[in-house]
Amino acid sequence: MNGIQLSNRLSNFPPYLFAEIDKKKSELRAKKIKFIDVSIGDPDIATPDGVIETLYKASKIKSNQKYALDQGSLKFRTAIKKWFKKRFDVSLCERSQILPLIGSKEGLIHFPLAYVNPGETILIPSPGYPGYRGAALFAGAKPYEMPLLAENKFLADLDKIPLSVRNRARMMYLNYPNNPTTALAPKKYLTEVVKFCRKYGIILAYDNAYSEIYFEEKPLSILEIPGAEEIALEFHSLSKTFCMTGFRVGWACGNPGLTAGLLKVKSNVDSGIFGAIQEAGANALSSQSAYVGKLRKTLKTRRDVFVSGLKELGFDEIYAGSTFYVWVRIPERFGSSIDMAEYLLMKKRIVATPGLGFGKHGEGFIRFAMTVDIDVLKKALKLLK
Ligand SMILES: Cc1ncc(COP(=O)(O)O)c(C=O)c1O
Repeated sequence: MNGIQLSNRLSNFPPYLFAEIDKKKSELRAKKIKFIDVSIGDPDIATPDGVIETLYKASKIKSNQKYALDQGSLKFRTAIKKWFKKRFDVSLCERSQILPLIGSKEGLIHFPLAYVNPGETILIPSPGYPGYRGAALFAGAKPYEMPLLAENKFLADLDKIPLSVRNRARMMYLNYPNNPTTALAPKKYLTEVVKFCRKYGIILAYDNAYSEIYFEEKPLSILEIPGAEEIALEFHSLSKTFCMTGFRVGWACGNPGLTAGLLKVKSNVDSGIFGAIQEAGANALSSQSAYVGKLRKTLKTRRDVFVSGLKELGFDEIYAGSTFYVWVRIPERFGSSIDMAEYLLMKKRIVATPGLGFGKHGEGFIRFAMTVDIDVLKKALKLLK
């Protein structure tokens, strides 16, 4: 059938950044051109053996081969509850405050459908994870970009949000440790955010996908902040912590009403997470803390080597606090981050992510992911000379 039109809703979507980069990579592969890929947050490191073994065994259990419960297995929710208490000293009710997700992206993107009406405003960080914009557009809402600027340590300046926007805003996405800027949010700042959201009746979708990818200070949960439980849902992922990106598993937790709202959307969309994956997730959270410690060490070594290499090459504004990204100001000779990404791809065969892809305030930066081995990073540094 020719001439089938996309809906207005989908036509308004910008192309999904990583899908565009994937297209370029496929073109190179089709031409048998080798390249170094430091563009995407998908670590090269294998998932813990114990997780794989649990998955294998659990997949043979007949009940796991059937539809799963929408709200996730009690076993997985209990493992999340215990992990959360140990990690953040926050007590969650496994029956009303924890909702397993098919990856945190799934929950983050479905969440506004429960609470935001068409025409209302969603505050999103810029630069920020591209999914937030998509989430706003799916809900028919207007995304309002909160600039994350280097001079503010990449913390959104709440005072700069106009009163008219505050009054129209229904939801705010926030993400620390931050992709792509690598910034961490101090407790004082998170306390201000909670106060702001409570004052203006804004629901806070706090994306903590990188809570375990830190090298110095431990990131906080928003639920450690007094009053957050009234307005926040926090999103977690097993993707980065246990190198389980392909498994598609994460969770949302926090306010019981918000958890129920997201569950209502999900029960109309999906039919739960494969039971064996939930068992594998429970194993990761309860038995793999040594793996996570080792992962952090590996990522820190990679980061340190790459950052000192970049400094030697003359890059002078480099941010590499937490997460496994390195966020770098582009040299002046490049007109834009897209120009630099094209140059790296065509001349150096390095795939990196242009800052503009994360929103207009990402312009002027490029992101490198430390998701490849140290030898590959050294090779990339040599090519950059
Ligand atoms: C900030 C942020 N949030 C959420 C996600 C989604 O992770 P997943 O859906 O694999 O849990 C990502 C993935 O890169 C991310 O960078």
